Amino acid sequence: MNLEHALKDPIFKIISTTADELDIACYVVGGFVRDYILKRHTGQDIDIVAIGSGIELAKLVAKKLTHRPKVSVFKTYGTAMLRHKDIEIEFVGARKESYSKESRNPEVKNGTLEDDQKRRDFTINALAIGLNTSNFGTLLDPFNGVLDLKNKRIVTPLDPNVTFSDDPLRMLRAIRFATQLDFEIDSHSFEAIKENYQRIDIITNERIVVELHKILESPKPSIGFLLLEKTGLLELILPELTALKGIDEVEGQRHKDNFYHTLEVVDNIALHTNNVWLRWTALLHDIGKAPTKRFSKKVGWTFHGHELKGSKMVYHMFKRLKMPLNDKMKYVQKLVFMSSRPIALASKHITDAAVRRLVFDAGEYIDDLMTLCEADITTKNPRKFKKYHNNFKIVRQKMVEVEERDRIRNFQPPVTGEEIMNAFHLKPCREIGMIKEYIKEAILEGQIPNERVAAYALMLKKGTELGLKQHDETKI
Ligand code: CTP
Repeated sequence: MNLEHALKDPIFKIISTTADELDIACYVVGGFVRDYILKRHTGQDIDIVAIGSGIELAKLVAKKLTHRPKVSVFKTYGTAMLRHKDIEIEFVGARKESYSKESRNPEVKNGTLEDDQKRRDFTINALAIGLNTSNFGTLLDPFNGVLDLKNKRIVTPLDPNVTFSDDPLRMLRAIRFATQLDFEIDSHSFEAIKENYQRIDIITNERIVVELHKILESPKPSIGFLLLEKTGLLELILPELTALKGIDEVEGQRHKDNFYHTLEVVDNIALHTNNVWLRWTALLHDIGKAPTKRFSKKVGWTFHGHELKGSKMVYHMFKRLKMPLNDKMKYVQKLVFMSSRPIALASKHITDAAVRRLVFDAGEYIDDLMTLCEADITTKNPRKFKKYHNNFKIVRQKMVEVEERDRIRNFQPPVTGEEIMNAFHLKPCREIGMIKEYIKEAILEGQIPNERVAAYALMLKKGTELGLKQHDETKI
């Protein structure tokens, strides 16, 4: 097969003539070739394999580029990287050992192209296109990767036990590619993951999280989480999720399986948002249910306080996986904490006051919270499904009305602490906080509008009730 049309970018001709000059055979390999054949346009970085020194080739290529990019050299790995326009181009000498950027054993033995291809993770990632003038555009596919692309199969070039023990992260990568591309993992490879899953413990959390992100960013993330669960990997990586599995029955009363429910919620939300942190929220919104699950004869199954418990668990999980403990984590925590609020509204009569309170508490996260809660509706009862969605429409409509009138979303107290101090001639004291809280509550309850005049009058009334003396010059 000739794939010269994949090499339209002038950079390939530059690499080609440079490689000819140095008398080095070189090829473009991996994700670039795979995605080109799949017509996946991912702004793909380029991996070049050289039969010889990839570093030397990279340096000479850089010299020929008008912008003279900097070449980053990683001598131990025999690799070099340069940036050209928006793409990273990585050059590596063909290896006999396993190909992994972060291989634990970086000692590199030179090999042929085929040596290099067979030590890659999957046949679909082991495709190479010739770059020298003599074979410019020729596809080299010794492991039938093109056929596997056609048949949508993830297969290792070697015995999967060898491929996975070379780099156990590849077990996760198999599942990630199966999810991203909607491919099937070959049964031998799948069995090998089931046998070797515990080896994931030698992989750093950072690399694991990269794969989890990619699974979550896929169109249907449940594919990946189901595979993770079936292979045993999920139990090791995210035990909070496997703890949600199962349905208990006591005295004929059952609760739903919160694991499968969670996966439905994640798939639902993936249809409405590409925000990966909102997708994380969907994945974690019920994790507090496992430790809070109780049964009582009176009310059946309950999960009291699971939202608070879940938001605390988010912190521990992020910490364990070395995920950022920053505003992203706080966002996930807050949404998990509030995840039942709109649902409670949507199942009963909706008052303006309840909507105002919800908007006030959620603040800038209100839209994402609503998206989460709509995704959370997984009932199979069509009547209830319709009812909940209709109620959410009403909540959203009311939110618009209430916001227009009361500007709750970015609530600023209409009377400041300083004004309260002036009005009653006070030094800082707890009465100021009490009055502010009283005004806020009155606005949220709809007793007064969110306006200064009404709020000021209420302040004077409440202050007097608290026994404070009005300052003589107090004016509205
Ligand atoms: N590779 C491998 N084993 C790994 C990681 C990478 O064999 N653990 C090889 C594969 O041939 C892969 C190439 O290195 O195609 C480049 O790796 P990477 O950039 O991580 O992945 P891509 O395949 O390019 O895919 P994506 O960009 O979607 O991650």
